[in-house]
Amino acid sequence: MEPNFDKRILCIGAGYVGGPTMAVIAAKCPRYKVTVVDINPQRIAAWNSDRLPIYEPGLDEVVAGCRGRNLFFSTDVEAGIREAEIIFVSVNTPTKTYGLGAGMAADLKYWEKTARQILACAQSPKIIVEKSTLPVRTARAMERILVAGNSDIHFDVVSNPEFLAEGTAINDLLNPDRVLIGGRQTENGRKAQDQLVEIYANWVAADRIVTTDIWSSELSKLVANAFLAQRISSINAISALCEKTEADVANVSRAVGMDSRIGAKFLNASVGFGGSCFKKDILNLVYLCRHYGLDEVADYWEMVVTINRYQKERFVRRMLAAMFNTLAGKRICMLGFAFKADTGDTRESPGIYIARRLVEETAELVIHDPQALDNARIDLAEIADKIQFIDDPYEAVRGSHAIAIITEWDQYRKLDYQAIYAGMAKPAFIFDGRNITDHQALYDIGFNVYPIGKPALTHF
Ligand code: NAD
Ligand code: UGA
Repeated sequence: MEPNFDKRILCIGAGYVGGPTMAVIAAKCPRYKVTVVDINPQRIAAWNSDRLPIYEPGLDEVVAGCRGRNLFFSTDVEAGIREAEIIFVSVNTPTKTYGLGAGMAADLKYWEKTARQILACAQSPKIIVEKSTLPVRTARAMERILVAGNSDIHFDVVSNPEFLAEGTAINDLLNPDRVLIGGRQTENGRKAQDQLVEIYANWVAADRIVTTDIWSSELSKLVANAFLAQRISSINAISALCEKTEADVANVSRAVGMDSRIGAKFLNASVGFGGSCFKKDILNLVYLCRHYGLDEVADYWEMVVTINRYQKERFVRRMLAAMFNTLAGKRICMLGFAFKADTGDTRESPGIYIARRLVEETAELVIHDPQALDNARIDLAEIADKIQFIDDPYEAVRGSHAIAIITEWDQYRKLDYQAIYAGMAKPAFIFDGRNITDHQALYDIGFNVYPIGKPALTHF
């Protein structure tokens, strides 16, 4: 054991959460040894290389600053467990695809596997930290597995959900709105909670570190994501009404958001929300509500997901209606495929649904994205032979009948649309799924412009 470290922290799961979170802990706590392990050797090799497995602004610098000093990436899960006093578990908890609860409940198989592995390898007391997003009361299951071996080793389970958003992960981790730490209200539980507080206190102000009971902590994570997604579905639902009534959804958002009780953030109408978590966490919440016989509550939250699907389909139908009810053989260029800007992540991206629908309509599809083309190829593998993936936005749009903006990459605001228009088939259409372009300027160039939740600007 290295004498020169004050604490040894392990994180099981080197993904979008485990990697950046541990890199920031290592950067802020040079006295702690932080090891991140994963069963995926390619992922670990990438974390140890110059090309990290995920794109996240600022991440490269943080990793470069502490990797090899007090931040280590390894595939040796067992050694990691033996050595650490505190184990964060940030494995994936996707929606179940089989058996009871398929399509709704969280799949806890990766989670349970880590619990059993911790039990099998631990030789000294550990604090186990739930970093993954989990159904409320999962800590009890973890505790039951950990005491099942009847060993003398003491385990404490603490809930410490992660609220970072992709694309801003480093800033979110460095300056969190809050750090939530839920523990059992027992002497041991409080001591374990205090140990977690001690880690974050290295850089987070005391009034932002919130301690609470363990069930409220687990549930708060699901509820935070449900509320955030609900705001997007609320404004997206209103965007449909705006398109019928010539109201402008941006003006409505602004007016509504200026009410300090409502707040201005997360009211941008869009082609729909994506990302690995919103849908999965809401479905998980819905499943839990149904499990407890709360059908009305479940129906209420399920509508957030229903509206999101409606918004994606509405986008495709608007394209169809605008382009004379047929997309067959028309070259359509999707600008953006990532689920949001500043990430290469495409999990649950609205782009996936829209691409599949456009190919179904037998459009000739071209996709550009500055970071997500590799993932796009994987997501659309079954129809990849019908799609061109092009690195250069100008080449991608050349000869198109229509452009569909799917991701709000800054570069799409600044393209030379005059030159693009000149190279497109006429009449040229632009469907701005993120409302990021200057619609009047595009119309003046000659485009027929279809924003979200605003009147279309057309030349016929
Ligand atoms: P991810 O899929 O990127 O990473 C999970 C990693 O865990 C994978 O690399 C996988 O190989 C590894 N893993 C699975 N089983 C393992 C095992 N038994 N031993 C070692 N490694 C194992 O997932 P993610 O996006 O980092 O999300 C992880 C959790 O955090 C999820 O519960 C998610 O809901 C939650 N979360 C994600 C975000 C986000 O922005 N992505 C934000 C907050 C919370
Ligand atoms: C979200 C939450 O913001 C994080 O707090 C949470 O930790 C994370 O989920 C998680 O649990 O995984 P993330 O999905 O990375 O983070 O990104 P967001 O910024 O929340 O965006 C989600 C989706 O909503 C994106 O597709 C985005 O384009 C869309 N969105 C966001 C809108 O359509 N309109 C908005 O006003 C805001």
